[in-house]
Amino acid sequence: YKILGQKDFLALADISGDQILQLLKLAKNIKNKHEMGEDFRPLTGKTLGMIFEKSSTRTRVSFEVGMLQLGGHALFLSSNDLQIGRGETVSDTAKVLSQYVDGIMIRTFEHEKVKELASAATIPIINGLTDTAHPCQALADLLTIQEVKGSLKGLKMAYIGDGNNMAHSLMIACAKTGMDFSIGCPQGYEPNEEIISIAQKEAAMNNCTIEVHTSAAAAIKNADIVYSDVWTSMGQEQENELRLEAFKDYQINADLVSHADKDYIFMHCLPAHREEEVTTEIIDGPQSVIFHQAGNRLHAQKAILADLLS
Ligand code: CP
Ligand code: NVA
Repeated sequence: YKILGQKDFLALADISGDQILQLLKLAKNIKNKHEMGEDFRPLTGKTLGMIFEKSSTRTRVSFEVGMLQLGGHALFLSSNDLQIGRGETVSDTAKVLSQYVDGIMIRTFEHEKVKELASAATIPIINGLTDTAHPCQALADLLTIQEVKGSLKGLKMAYIGDGNNMAHSLMIACAKTGMDFSIGCPQGYEPNEEIISIAQKEAAMNNCTIEVHTSAAAAIKNADIVYSDVWTSMGQEQENELRLEAFKDYQINADLVSHADKDYIFMHCLPAHREEEVTTEIIDGPQSVIFHQAGNRLHAQKAILADLLS
């Protein structure tokens, strides 16, 4: 693990700002090779197991294709079909799979489960989203911001919506790379307090700020990056009606973005609910970089895979 210096990639909070920048450099390098049609196969003969307890389009396909491009192979393991879905423990599963595959990417509910898997497994574990964090997405997003804005330090990201997994990972990503982060969210939907405090400590060392607002207009003021995510995450479907009501003043629309910097870019991890958290006009508009960011999942994750599995 040349860059990460540790077995697993579970959360950006576990790694330093410098390591994040090095991963981004490697990702850019791997992306350039890919675009030049150059072969880069450090993972020949290696297998990644991908456990999914939730749906996925981007994560599943980008990890599978990423492994193939790096010379390896990926196995899609749906929890419905694994014995884990019938009660086999995470730790037993980890010990068994450690002998077959070279790494595991897992998407699940509780963050604790991923930690448990990582401590029982002898192979690298990659977090492909939990209820608490989505570090692969945040890393890819930093790559996109670097490409579009030229650098990270000194920029301001405004995240409007639920204080969820995306909010957590982006907050930490900004704090560690010197970007101001400001969230606008309804009362009761703030990010996890412990994560806010980690981010604030980190931000203080990197000359940037973390702000939590209940006013979307206050949060978005002069933002260089305007970010949104769904109001109802996977696993919260039964709260949908309640959330539609709670978040109705937190839609990203022409009126709200008039408070952002005029050269702001709009970002969304996808999948999006058009006309809920963002209007079609904004998400499909000229300042939106949503497909650029989805594309970068592939390159950012190839950097993580190359570092952890080779
Ligand atoms: N953004 C993201 O992780 O998308 P999927 O749920 O499609 O993997
Ligand atoms: N917050 C969303 C992100 C999806 C990529 C969810 O957890 O469903």
